[in-house]
Amino acid sequence: MRKKIAAGNWKMNLSPKEAQALTSEVITMAQAEYTGHAEVIFAPPFPYLSMVHHLMKEAKGFHLAAQTLHEAESGAYTGETSAAMIVAVGATHVLIGHSERRQYFGEGNDLLAKKVDQALKHGLVPVYCLGETLEEREAGETLSVNREQLAGGLFHLSAEDFSKVILAYEPVWAIGTGKTASPEQAQEVHAFLRAEVRAQYGEEIAENCTILYGGSVKPDNAKELFSNPDIDGGLVGGASLKSRDFTEILKALP
Ligand code: 13P
Repeated sequence: MRKKIAAGNWKMNLSPKEAQALTSEVITMAQAEYTGHAEVIFAPPFPYLSMVHHLMKEAKGFHLAAQTLHEAESGAYTGETSAAMIVAVGATHVLIGHSERRQYFGEGNDLLAKKVDQALKHGLVPVYCLGETLEEREAGETLSVNREQLAGGLFHLSAEDFSKVILAYEPVWAIGTGKTASPEQAQEVHAFLRAEVRAQYGEEIAENCTILYGGSVKPDNAKELFSNPDIDGGLVGGASLKSRDFTEILKALP
């Protein structure tokens, strides 16, 4: 069955104390106030993975993600983190291909495909991010760019492996800008991505594929976005740093 998910990408934010408080507060609020079935994913900075894991490991429906990983097994890659290390500190998921990785660290589809393979090899669920820039949208390239990123990073996978992947559509122009894609704009791309998955892997895998929306998701727009048939939750940046806001976003999911 298709999962509903509220995921928080903390990016390079928060002190250890703040990260600890945020984790505990969201768990407490969610357990007291949320009656739905959605899952929660926290993606903290690497140095906090262990601590956050410790705080959340008893909380049902809460999962831990790293924000990226290296594609090699181990070796002389100063500053990098391997899949095995991520698993060892309690993470079950990993973001791959976030637009900030694509944009600032030159990560392209070929490299991302290797990262996806490495994650799956170690039993990590890839949360594969994709989305067009403003320039690409204005040039009428939205669907072709998303198709290229989807196919380039993922369509080498077997059906069995693809069915483990979560997709996150994050239009670059909506990230951290306060400019949210309208529910219609988001739904259009989500439906398109699902159709592409259907064409490649068939009806059942497409129907079961969780596709998150990311880009200025806030408590006041979450419900409208999530009410679309192909939007299965959110990958939240800024608003995931505030426990009340993130909990309200979770509560917008059934
Ligand atoms: P914002 O919610 O801050 O726009 O960030 C979205 C994002 O990049 C999540 O990965």
